[in-house]
Amino acid sequence: MESTGKDVRVEISSSLDIVTARQEARALAQTLGFEGSELTLIAAAISEIARNIVDFARRGEIILGGIQKGPRRGIQIVARDQGPGIPNLAKAMQYGYSTRRRAGAGLPGAKWLMDEFNIQSNVGKGTTVTMKKWAEQLGQTE
Ligand SMILES: Nc1ncnc2c1ncn2[C@@H]1O[C@H](COP(=O)(O)OP(=O)(O)O)[C@@H](O)[C@H]1O
Ligand SMILES: [Mg+2]
Repeated sequence: MESTGKDVRVEISSSLDIVTARQEARALAQTLGFEGSELTLIAAAISEIARNIVDFARRGEIILGGIQKGPRRGIQIVARDQGPGIPNLAKAMQYGYSTRRRAGAGLPGAKWLMDEFNIQSNVGKGTTVTMKKWAEQLGQTE
């Protein structure tokens, strides 16, 4: 897998930054060949992961980049924070599990929306979520 173009980095420490991350992701995804509802799904996944940074770690960053694997193009989203970390990842990935009596759908929802999802977390050190989505391949005539 190769990266294409420049990465876009968005610092996250407020709800406004979440909006910025969504907008940047939409704009980048469009240049990578995503369209319509796919753009909305990518923005939704980013929202959840960025919201978790604000809620649980207070601050962090999201790095957006284009990726390519053979003929396929996609978007990679890396969300990083140095917050408290997640003691039980298996639980945190379950629908309905929330330490804040929220919906508990953010992590499993984001995983479902994206093609690839990886989360690493160390208590006291922080959390990194890496997600990828691949665009529909263009037809041979294009
Ligand atoms: N970046 C993070 N840092 C620390 N804990 C997190 C982070 N993201 C998620 N969590 C933990 O995982 C749980 C599940 O997250 P999520 O599925 O988004 O549900 P919700 O945000 O509704 O609680 C959260 O309640 C929280 O305890
Ligand atoms: Mg959440």
